This record gives sequence, C-alpha cells and structure tokens, in this order.
Amino acid sequence: MMPETATFEMHPNLRKFLSAQPKRLWIGGKWVEARSGKSFETCNPATGDALARVAEADRADVEEAVRAARKATEGPWSSLSPSERGKLLYRIAELLEKHAEELAQLESLDNGKTIREAQKGDLPLAVDLFRYYAGWPTKIHGETIPVSVPYLPGARFFHYTVREPVGVVGAIIPWNFPLLMAAERIAPALACGNTVILKPAEQTPLSALRLGEILEEAGLPEGVCNILPGFGPTAGRALAEHPGVDKITFTGSTEVGREIVKASAGNLKRISLELGGKSPNIVFADADLELAVKGMFMGIFYNQGQCCSAGSRVFVEKSCFDALLEKMVERAKTVRQGPGLDPKTQMGPLVSQEQLDRVAGYVESGKKEGAQLLCGGVRGEGALSKGYFFKPTVFAGVRDEMRIAQEEIFGPVATVLPFESFEEVVQRANGTAYGLVAGVWTQDIKRALRLAQVLQAGTVWINCYHFVDAAAPWGGYKQSGYGREKGQYAIDLYTQIKSVWVDLN
Ligand code: NAI
Ligand code: MG
Repeated sequence: MMPETATFEMHPNLRKFLSAQPKRLWIGGKWVEARSGKSFETCNPATGDALARVAEADRADVEEAVRAARKATEGPWSSLSPSERGKLLYRIAELLEKHAEELAQLESLDNGKTIREAQKGDLPLAVDLFRYYAGWPTKIHGETIPVSVPYLPGARFFHYTVREPVGVVGAIIPWNFPLLMAAERIAPALACGNTVILKPAEQTPLSALRLGEILEEAGLPEGVCNILPGFGPTAGRALAEHPGVDKITFTGSTEVGREIVKASAGNLKRISLELGGKSPNIVFADADLELAVKGMFMGIFYNQGQCCSAGSRVFVEKSCFDALLEKMVERAKTVRQGPGLDPKTQMGPLVSQEQLDRVAGYVESGKKEGAQLLCGGVRGEGALSKGYFFKPTVFAGVRDEMRIAQEEIFGPVATVLPFESFEEVVQRANGTAYGLVAGVWTQDIKRALRLAQVLQAGTVWINCYHFVDAAAPWGGYKQSGYGREKGQYAIDLYTQIKSVWVDLN
C-alpha cells in the first residue's frame, strides 16, 4: 500500500496544502475564519520552526458549529439509508488510503513522529477504522423482548428496541496520534448516524484539517462533521459545556478528564473518557527474552513514549533483571534521533517545548528521589538542540512510591523494577491510580492467563505490546477513564436505546 522507504521529497499535495494559509475552520460545510479573526501557529517539533498558521476557534465558533451540526442531524444525513451511510464511510477509507503518503508526511511534520511509524501505524489504522465502521450502519439494530405486566395476567404485548443516534457529538482529542484519534471518533459516530464537532489538539491541528477536505471530497453532507482547531480552555471548554452537544468523547490527561466531567453537568451530556496510564510491562525469566527486550523497548519508546498505553513501568523477574536491564540500556544508547521525515530516524522529537519541560522535570524528580539514571535524561544536542528532542532514558533503583513510578510522564522514560514473585508483581502492577493496559511476557500459558485475570487494565497484551485493531475495544479501568471506544462497543457509546411497547390486547 505504501512505499517501503520515504524520502525527504515532500508530497506535492502536501506542499499545496501547506502553502494555502492560514488554514481555516470547517463549519457547516464551509471553510471559514474564526469569528474573532484570531489564528495561532503550529510548529515543526524537529526544529521549532512555524509550520502553518491556523484559525483559532473559540466559544463563538463552537456556537456556530453546534448550530450547523444540529441542523445537519435533520438534513439529508438523517434520510440517508444505512447502506448509503456505509458506502460513504467506505469512500472515506478509500480516499484516506489514496492520500496516505501525503498524510503520513503531514503527521510526521506536525507531531514529530517518524515517517515510518506514521506510514506503518497511524495511517493504515486510520483507514481501517473507516473501513471497519463502514460495515456497521447496516448492522445496528434493536431487539424484540418478551415483556409482561404482572397485574395484567395473560395480556399480550409487542415490545421492541431501536438504536438511535445520540445527536451532536463533540470529540476532543490529543496530539499523540492526531489523525488516528480523529478517525477513531468520527468513524463510529458517523456510522451510528450522529453529527460531529472535532476539536483537534492545538499542537497538531493539520491532519484533522486535511481529513476535513477528504470528508468533503467523499461527499459528506454539510455540517455532518465540523473541525475546529483551538485551545483547550477556550474552544475545548466551550464544547464540553455547550447545552447543544449531546455527547463528549475525550482523550487526554486525567486532569482535563475531570474538567470535562464537571463541564458536562449542565445538560448531563454523555461522556466517554480515555485518559492516561502508568502501565506495567511484566517480564518473567521464562519468557523468550529476545522478544521480551524488544517488547520492553518498543513498549516505552514507541512514539517517543507519548502513548497513553506506554509500558512505562517495566517489571523484570529478579533472576534475569541485570541481563535485561543491560540490553535495554545498550539499545537505548544507540537510538538514532532526528527529524521524523528522515527515513533513517528511529526516534523523533517530543511534540512541544511544554512536553519537553514536563519530561525533563520528571527526570529531575527521579534523580532527586534517589533513582539511578542509567542513560539519557537530557535533551538532544548539536543539530538536535533546536528541536524538542529528549534522549531515551532508563531509570533503575526506583521505588514504587516515587513520582516517576506513579505519574504519567508521557515521554521516553522507562523505570525498570525487579520483582520476585507472582503475588508481589500483581500487587505492585495494580498499585497506581491508572489501569489502561498491561503487558505480560512468559511462556507459561497458565501464568499468563492468571495474570490476565487479576491485572486491573482495559487491555492485557500477552507476549506482545501496543497491538490495536479497529475491532478490539479500547479503554481503561480505574482513573484511566470509562467507556470503550472501537469495535462493537463504540456502537453503545454513539447510540441511545429506545424501548417501544405496543398493547396487543
Ligand atoms: P490535555 O489533556 O490538556 O489535552 C488534550 C486535549 O484536551 C487537547 O485537545 C486540549 O486542547 C483539550 N483541553 C485541554 N484543556 C481543556 C479543557 N479545560 N476543556 C476542554 N478541553 C481541554 O493534554 P496536554 O496538556 O497536551 O498534555 C498533558 C499531559 O496529558 C501529558 O503529559 C500526558 O500525560 C497526558 N496526555 C494523555 C494523552 C492520552 O493519550 N491519554 C494524550 C495527551 C496528553
Ligand atoms: Mg493541557
């Protein structure tokens, strides 16, 4: 589908996209300036240089978008048959696939991730989400239920349920997988017949805007999807508070997750939250250790560690702890960092100065609390010093109660912790406020499955890590959020059920 190696040669469509600035908001099928006339810059994190100027949505634009999205729930969209809706989603998948290389380059430029990860991960997964949900509109149906009324013995009723769209869905998404997160929300929301207002993260608004062009090209009726780049406390908050929004789907920090819950209270809008993690990746001495080291490494360093599912607490059984730690450090020291678009780059920059500062701050706190820094711990030097590069970092000598072992760092920082027994590691693995994912490495199938039973996590990976699929549910236990995106579970998030009684007496 995509070429094996990318070159620095910028895709002509991307050149064209970037040259048309400032980028505008997409509201009611039109590309418009922000009401306030304000705009902001998005930068290339590999250099810190401005990449594009983007219209900045605020409350007034949200207002407009809600009106457009509401109107669209009653327009041609509502009379499109499920089969036609499926076809439209399929067309979007095809177009995304057609433009995959250009979008992968854009994603790499705006977010910093390597072009290889964008080509092999973000893009095919985003395409697949549309293709997967294209099959759903024709399969969303209700049930008939054999009801009875206790004080009317022998009375007969016909009862059925219908699944209806929730209405206007607000999607607030982060910057770590910008296009993928957009697809993960838009595809199921549209499959269920809703309309959408998407607020991409202020750090990475560009692929969402390009996606808007593709939705337009696919023939999505006006107002069915609206795209409003802007900041969290202004545009994001206005969306979360708006009484005309029926549901918010949010991915981001636990802190903002709580804000969303509060903001939703006015009209009691439905919410699903996909928040952070501090996930355990547990390696037993009987595992295939070569594979396990790769899993430990990729688990924490994929996407520069900016994954909600990062395996940031690596638990290694004591008997092989020293050997695996050494391999991990050796590997971390040889990672080639550089701009994401350079095909030789193995790790790109962090997304922003803010994120760089956060990560550096956590490294300092780890050192202060007495953890042992084995490699990394500093930002990139020389040619990399202009961008937001941070060297792959490994800590040992970490105690479970240290901040670096409890809080989400969201950067390339691994804490590697030894353990001795099954019971001990389960207790420690479950010992944070989070519960998003867990990794388990062992050849003992009973042990693996017993762990899968007792780990408090929304996803457990056995002898693998970071695998995701459009059909597999995604979401967290505990403070990693609630609701399950993807698969058939997302159909529950984006529909509401009507219960209909018919008296047959
Ligand atoms: P954030 O949670 O502030 O931002 C995520 C999204 O929420 C963005 O679109 C932002 O504009 C929006 N937002 C921010 N404040 C809002 C508000 N009051 N109302 C409505 N929307 C709001 O995340 P940020 O500041 O970019 O990163 C901070 C930390 O959050 C990271 O270091 C990481 O630990 C965590 N995070 C987790 C993610 C995940 O995938 N679970 C993704 C991004 C960040
Ligand atoms: Mg924030």
